[in-house]
Amino acid sequence: MQEIKDEQKTVTVMILPVTVDDLDEIYKIELECFGGDAYPRFIFNYLLSNPNSIFLKALKEDQVAGFIAGVCRTDTCTIYTLNVKKDFRRKGVGSILLEAFEKEALKRNVRKIVLQVEVTNTAALNLYLKKGYQISRLLKDYYGWRRDAYEAFKIL
Ligand SMILES: CC(C)(COP(=O)(O)OP(=O)(O)OC[C@H]1O[C@@H](n2cnc3c(N)ncnc32)[C@H](O)[C@@H]1OP(=O)(O)O)[C@@H](O)C(=O)NCCC(=O)NCCS
Repeated sequence: MQEIKDEQKTVTVMILPVTVDDLDEIYKIELECFGGDAYPRFIFNYLLSNPNSIFLKALKEDQVAGFIAGVCRTDTCTIYTLNVKKDFRRKGVGSILLEAFEKEALKRNVRKIVLQVEVTNTAALNLYLKKGYQISRLLKDYYGWRRDAYEAFKIL
């Protein structure tokens, strides 16, 4: 359990593992963030049951403000999704979740984080660049026709 306070932006969130009781709320946020591009719900059940996954939520009082999920294999953890509820954006929650994911990867002796982000997703791109991620390659049509992605990585 981890509590982080950001006085300047007045957000206090608690970082905790996601549990089965959070899945309805988590899935609502996934739909709010990605609409028709949302992962199917079974992916979240898979993440919960997979011992190699890192699946964390940021809790503000009794509300899930955001979550991050990914899977670690041998020497790399891949971030599948990072979502912050609209009302909580630009208050540092995404950064806090990313830092918590990285800490958890290190606990598992994994030092490389990989992710994909749509080239038009300025908010996410800025966040990752600010947090020290580097773009490694362009993935053409990764999200569908003419929807390219960058692959980015960070060595912890
Ligand atoms: C991307 C996302 C997770 C960012 O979460 P957040 O909690 O708002 O991010 P933070 O408050 O920690 O922002 C950290 C930095 O990211 C950048 N950033 C965040 N939102 C931004 C925006 N709307 N426009 C430009 N830069 C932005 C800024 O550099 C910001 O630092 P600053 O506020 O000091 O300028 C959030 O916008 C989101 O959930 N988007 C929809 C889902 C999504 O696209 N997820 C990423 C999938 S790869």
